[in-house]
Amino acid sequence: MITESLRVGPGTPEEWLGPFPLASCFGHPERPLEVDLGCGKGRFLLAHAAKHPTVNFLGIDRMLRRIRKIDNRARRLELGNIRLMRMEAYYAVAHLLPAASVWTYYVFFPDPWPKARHEGNRLFNPAFLDALCRTLVPGGVVHAATDHEAYFEQLSDMFAGDARFTSIPPFIPSEDEQTDFERYYITTKPIGRLSVQRT
Ligand SMILES: C[S@@+](CC[C@H](N)C(=O)[O-])C[C@H]1O[C@@H](n2cnc3c(N)ncnc32)[C@H](O)[C@@H]1O
Repeated sequence: MITESLRVGPGTPEEWLGPFPLASCFGHPERPLEVDLGCGKGRFLLAHAAKHPTVNFLGIDRMLRRIRKIDNRARRLELGNIRLMRMEAYYAVAHLLPAASVWTYYVFFPDPWPKARHEGNRLFNPAFLDALCRTLVPGGVVHAATDHEAYFEQLSDMFAGDARFTSIPPFIPSEDEQTDFERYYITTKPIGRLSVQRT
């Protein structure tokens, strides 16, 4: 759910300049935290959070309308373990999330920016890997999926060349947890899946 302070607008400079006050946001801050970056319409987030009530989930997306819809659904389903942020994903990971606070990141179908001149807009780049590494607990994992072949190759090469991460078997969501983009592409295009663990 969106915390009340986020519903009414930006809070204090301290709240926006980080670190994000996880302890006061979740009812059970001692529980593991999993983050869905670019959570879209929240199909995965809502289904996964319902199945794992003792895990804290944070959904981040830059589209306010999507965040509001997920918030409404989470409230209707009484999912007290979901919190939401309307935020640019890199900024949240690099500057707001506390160090060694995240057990799992899910990054499903990040925008591929297919034109060569736009590739610099992709979420995955060396600075983002540094931010993932900073915020993951040791042994924490990143699960990613994309239908864009070139982006998948780029991701695979980046993680393979980074000794801070070890490849693990890819995460495959159950049918009820498939995101909207997954459901769209699963019958039409090969999906590249990659999971890595912070060493
Ligand atoms: C292609 S959609 C995928 C949504 C969802 N993960 C799925 O698989 O259905 C990408 C989502 O990421 C969000 N997004 C793209 N770039 C972002 C960024 N830099 N920070 C936060 N959200 C972003 C978009 O608003 C959109 O909801």
